[in-house]
Amino acid sequence: MGFLATKIIAHRGASSKYPENTMFAYKQALKDGADAIELDIHLSRDKIPVVIHDETVDRTTDGYGFVKDYSVSELKKLSAGHWKGWKFRKAEIPTLEEVLAWIQSTPLDLVIELKNNLFPYKGMEEIMLDLIDKYRMMERTIFSSFNHDSLLKIKRLNHNAETAPLYSKPIPDPVRYAKSIGASGLHPYYRITTEQLVRTLHKNGLKIRPYTVNSPHFMAILFRWGVDAVITDEPAQAAKLRKIKMK
Ligand code: G3P
Ligand code: MG
Repeated sequence: MGFLATKIIAHRGASSKYPENTMFAYKQALKDGADAIELDIHLSRDKIPVVIHDETVDRTTDGYGFVKDYSVSELKKLSAGHWKGWKFRKAEIPTLEEVLAWIQSTPLDLVIELKNNLFPYKGMEEIMLDLIDKYRMMERTIFSSFNHDSLLKIKRLNHNAETAPLYSKPIPDPVRYAKSIGASGLHPYYRITTEQLVRTLHKNGLKIRPYTVNSPHFMAILFRWGVDAVITDEPAQAAKLRKIKMK
């Protein structure tokens, strides 16, 4: 019963074989049968939300230094794909707006992770929500973060925004906690996800989408427990496994 309900969220796109958080990885996720993509955002020096995982460009581009110290036009000159292979050398760091313009005409949903736990990026929530409104994506987007204050702020700015906190250590009363920050779901690390947690959240009208599960063994368990979605670097494998489980 649970298998049918479980969605596949491609973590940073189809990021195991394609450069994470680039259009290459998102377009592949769509081909692979994902239901949604997850992406990470920071603010550039000129206060534009840009899609990259780390605070610095060091790991995933041919540049170095903090994202916040670059303007968008400077970030655009970097290769965000070369590190993953020569054929991806033309990949750019996308702006959130570029991804929204593309995703709007696809059937995909979107999970935006605000990476504002190290640098607060003043005004990030407002700037992001304006873009979501501009592209009419509010109903297809879930906002997540390890910065739970930021999720509370999003909820206060727009009551219709769907939020879900990320966390990696068990929390004592997850239902009460989610409700206290206005979240409609939780995104726990997959290794702290239990069948009991899935049941408790569902009984209380909350969604659960564990991250980041790539092993078929654990994926199958989560499908069986009926989690609402799995967040995975391997959307193709997840789609295949889900099909087998549904038979
Ligand atoms: O959305 C889940 C996941 O993205 C959280 O961790 O570090 O991969 O952004 P991270
Ligand atoms: Mg993330």
